[in-house]
Amino acid sequence: MLPLLARGPVNAFADIARRSRGGIVRLNLGPLRPYLVTHPDHVRHVMRDHWQNYLRMGKVWAPVERFLGTTFAGEGPDWEASRKAYQPMFTARHVTSLTSTLADVIAERVGLLDEPARAGRPIEATRTMADLVVAVNTVFFFGEKSSFAEGRRLAREFGTAVKWMNVRQIMPFVPDSVPLPGDRAFAGAVEAIDALVYPLIRKARQDDGHDVLSALCRARGTGQDADRLVRDDLVAALVAGTDTTTHALAWVWPLLQAHPRVAARLYEEIDHVVGTGPVRQEHLPELRYTKMVVQEVLRLYPSGWIMQRFPVAPGDIGGVPIDAGSPVFISPYATHRLDEFWDRPLEFDPERFSPGHEHRRHRYSYFPFGGGPHQCIGRHLFSVVALLTLATIVSRHHPQVRTPGPISPLPAALRPKQPIELHLVPVERRRARSARATG
Ligand code: HEM
Repeated sequence: MLPLLARGPVNAFADIARRSRGGIVRLNLGPLRPYLVTHPDHVRHVMRDHWQNYLRMGKVWAPVERFLGTTFAGEGPDWEASRKAYQPMFTARHVTSLTSTLADVIAERVGLLDEPARAGRPIEATRTMADLVVAVNTVFFFGEKSSFAEGRRLAREFGTAVKWMNVRQIMPFVPDSVPLPGDRAFAGAVEAIDALVYPLIRKARQDDGHDVLSALCRARGTGQDADRLVRDDLVAALVAGTDTTTHALAWVWPLLQAHPRVAARLYEEIDHVVGTGPVRQEHLPELRYTKMVVQEVLRLYPSGWIMQRFPVAPGDIGGVPIDAGSPVFISPYATHRLDEFWDRPLEFDPERFSPGHEHRRHRYSYFPFGGGPHQCIGRHLFSVVALLTLATIVSRHHPQVRTPGPISPLPAALRPKQPIELHLVPVERRRARSARATG
């Protein structure tokens, strides 16, 4: 296992799952002997049917708790209270009602790309998508209470904290009393995050609003520890929703570049529905092919690619005995690549998601947003943001990727390993050029 993992754990897990045809595998990671569970029936067993025996706790989860607390990132009554507090802000209906605000934020960020496009200067895809997601999250979570610059600082500190949290997670056998490289950077990042977040919480308590932070403050009241609970809820959701969204959006561009026919159909749909923009709420249901493209991007690059669970009592999954206390890993990235459940699983083909096909699929053969009680609360927000982002960019530019492939995913929310250089060809110029070519 270790040499395989050294080459990259993301594809190592997927290769092992493919070789075992979705059978349960016990991985030998030295002192750690986790199970890799990828068959859709088994995934449903862990995530939905027997979820109370497979909890987010234990040594592998402890570093997460140190960063994000035990509310939204945990289990039990505190987690339930977080979910309840968040629910109304993340329903499809509420998110859709905010479409025009989100569309304005996205249009403003995409407008900044006109200048490099005119100058013929390339942009970097992951960084550009990251800025766009920061802008969206800042408005969605904080309304007018925060700024893009502050959101960017927060995102940078999240990056540092998550990086060093992951180091502790892959070495759960190292006691906390033994220092590891990165412990200080982790503590510094958490301190910086708290220094940004607590003043925002105080502001929200004085100046009520329709943003997520104000709703959290109302839901948690003002009792003892209320501010810490709001801080934990807020940071957990922001961390869960920032890099996942960013990296999923970044993968769109190399996939379109490698599949010109898909790109052409997407351009055509967006041109037909949105024209030169701006994108409006009523356009979204019309962007059917764009939605299929987004779903297929999330099949190949489900940025929440690995989930961990701790079996509290011994279990049995499909006849395989499971030891209590040995971590169970679930990976949509691996399940989405199983030949047993997908035709040509390694090929990018949005047609899989044409209407009607979902009935022919196992519910847990496609689960980029997880399932069961912990299913992602941000999935509707992601869908709206993804459609708005693609439609807004493509109505103005046809991005061309110049970075030679293949581009590989890193374990950190499947971040593309290489910078992705995008050349933005303004739509008008492209139309004029193809008219000249045909004329
Ligand atoms: C492409 C984008 C996204 C992907 C792939 C994704 C994926 C996931 C997955 C797989 C889970 C389940 C984790 C588990 O069972 O342990 C999850 C949970 C969660 N996601 Fe997302 N997510 C995305 C976007 C978002 C956004 C935009 C937000 C919020 C702004 C968000 C907030 C959360 C939260 C708070 C949870 C924990 C829910 C719970 O435990 O009850 N996610 N996400």
